[in-house]
Formats: sequence, structure tokens, C-alpha cells
Amino acid sequence: MSGSDHSKKDGEKASDPVVRSFTQDGVETYEASIEGETIQWDKHLTYGHHLQIDQLLSAQRPVSDKPDEMLFIIMHQTMELWLKLMLHETRVAIAELRADELRKSAKTLARLGTIVRHMVHSWDVLATLTPPDFLTFRGVLSKASGFQSRQYRELEFLLGTKRADLILVHKDDAGAQAQLTKTLEEPSLYDEVLQVLARAGLQIPADKLERDWAQPYTPDRQVEAAWLTIYSDTETHWDLYRLGEQVTELEYYFQEWRFKHMKTVSRVIGQKMGTGGSSGVGYLIKALDLHFFPELWSMRTRMEAGPSQ
Ligand code: HEM
Repeated sequence: MSGSDHSKKDGEKASDPVVRSFTQDGVETYEASIEGETIQWDKHLTYGHHLQIDQLLSAQRPVSDKPDEMLFIIMHQTMELWLKLMLHETRVAIAELRADELRKSAKTLARLGTIVRHMVHSWDVLATLTPPDFLTFRGVLSKASGFQSRQYRELEFLLGTKRADLILVHKDDAGAQAQLTKTLEEPSLYDEVLQVLARAGLQIPADKLERDWAQPYTPDRQVEAAWLTIYSDTETHWDLYRLGEQVTELEYYFQEWRFKHMKTVSRVIGQKMGTGGSSGVGYLIKALDLHFFPELWSMRTRMEAGPSQ
């Protein structure tokens, strides 16, 4: 460590802690004794700089003067950050599945499940917004709605629900359209899971392994039979059984997120239409029937106890 003490600046009191500066491993560093602790910080890569805190905290700009709008904005922004992480981690899981790294993908899928559970709990904060609170600023939202969330739609595509017509609402945003179209045309997480099953020797129909990925996935009896084979002999197929359970868990919590959204909306606006123009709660109820991994659910109905069970 090489360094020199900072000289006191004009106006600095004698009791102010002394800040020393020195270079450590090529990094300009500051050090001061604060509350009995020796605190160090990097001159350039500070907390605020690394996390872009100024940028982040300057993005909450209510358009009304109503105090409850801040909660509404921060709830949406934090959800968007979690959606960003989900997109990121889902892509990591897909890369691991492609490489048949099932132990690694198990860890990534566990993290994804935990993120969605956390997002489910966060609805409780928004549920403190009462109907009169919301009505103070609902008018200024005009037609803005979560329906237009690019990341949410991309995540639906990436997990396996391909609804191409929903890209339409981004017709004036070429970047969003391009990104959504790219993800629509790529294999989803479920498509990749089926490739893993096929490589492991299970009978997956050829038209599920090579197809137009932009088209919605249609459930298949032979895929259901493959999952039944796995779940009927878990010892032999332990890694695939764990994979099946982890993606089922992901859908289970994702549906809980949809349910809590629908219930929160119902609590705040009742049966009113949405700002995005849909029937509101009625539209959100329909989304509860969407499946990412359909045969993993239908297979459960057909399962029977084996000889050893
Ligand atoms: C008081 C708060 C909220 C209300 C009243 C509300 C209301 C609605 C309504 C009525 C819809 C249906 C589309 C429409 O006509 O607008 C919708 C869709 C949606 N909202 Fe919310 N929402 C709220 C909070 C949130 C939050 C915090 C998020 C987080 C990102 C969110 C994300 C979404 C998404 C992604 C959709 C599209 C769902 C789909 O297409 O299946 N909403 N919302």
C-alpha cells in the first residue's frame, strides 16, 4: 500500500474524520475511521456509480400531485426489474439445458421459482391501495396499462406461451417489436426441456423437436406419455423428474402471480374496464387458463400407483 494523507480543506472542522487516500492493487482508495470502524471506498467504483442509483431514483415521476401515485409507480417499476431478472435467468437456464448441464439448470430454476414467489408476495403492498386512493389519479393514466409491458410479454413467450398478435400494441416501438419477434421465433424453455427429454432417449414426436417456434405449442399425447414414464420410475429418471417438478413449480407460482394480480385489481377497481381497454378482471381470469408446460399438468390425471407404491 502506498499513499498520502489528505490535507484538510478550508472550512473542515478539527473534529472531522481524516480521510486518507492511497492506491491499493492499482485502485485509488479512500479510508476513514467512522464510528470506530475503518471504512474504505473506491474513488471511482462507488455504490452509487456501480448501481446507477441517481439514474434509478430519478425515474419516479408522478404525473399527478396525488400522494398514492408514488406507490403505483414503484410497484410497477420493481416488478419490471424482477421481470428483467427472470428473463435473464430463464436464458441462463435455457443455455444450461442446451448443454445438458442439468445440475446447473436445477440451481437456476430454483432461483427462478424463488423470484416469482417474491413477486407474488409483493402484491400485498399494492393491495394497500384502496379504491378511493386509486381514483385520485386513475384519470391521468389514460390508456397506459400493464398490458403494454414488453418484458412481461417476452417472458410469456420465453416460457412457452406464444401469442404473436399481442406484439401489435408495440407497433410504434420498433425496438420492442424486434425484441419480441426475436423471442417469439426462438424455442421456449419448454421446447428446450423437450429437447433434453429426447436426447435422454424418451420418445418425443419429431414435430415437437423441429417446428415453427413462433406458433403456439399444442399439447401432445406422446409427450404426456414421456412425462408419465419419467414420473413412474423416478429413481431411473431422477434428473428429468426433478426438472419436471422445477418447471411445474415455476408455472405454479407464475399462476399465483396472475391470480394475485387479478384479485388485487378486483379489490381496487371491481368489475370496471381496464385502462388498456379490456374487460378488466374478466380478461385477467381468462389468463389463469394459460399453460406453459401443459403435459406436466395433464399427466397428473393419468398417473396411477406403480407396483412398488
Ligand atoms: C392498481 C393497480 C393495477 C390495476 C388496477 C391493474 C389493472 C389491470 C387490468 C385491468 C389489466 C387488463 C388490461 C387492461 O385492460 O388494462 C391489467 C393487465 C396487466 N397488468 Fe395490471 N393492474 C395493476 C397493477 C399492475 C402491476 C403492479 C403490474 C406489474 C408489472 C401489472 C402488470 C400487468 C400486466 C403484465 C398485464 C397484462 C396481463 C396479460 O396480458 O395477461 N399490473 N392490469
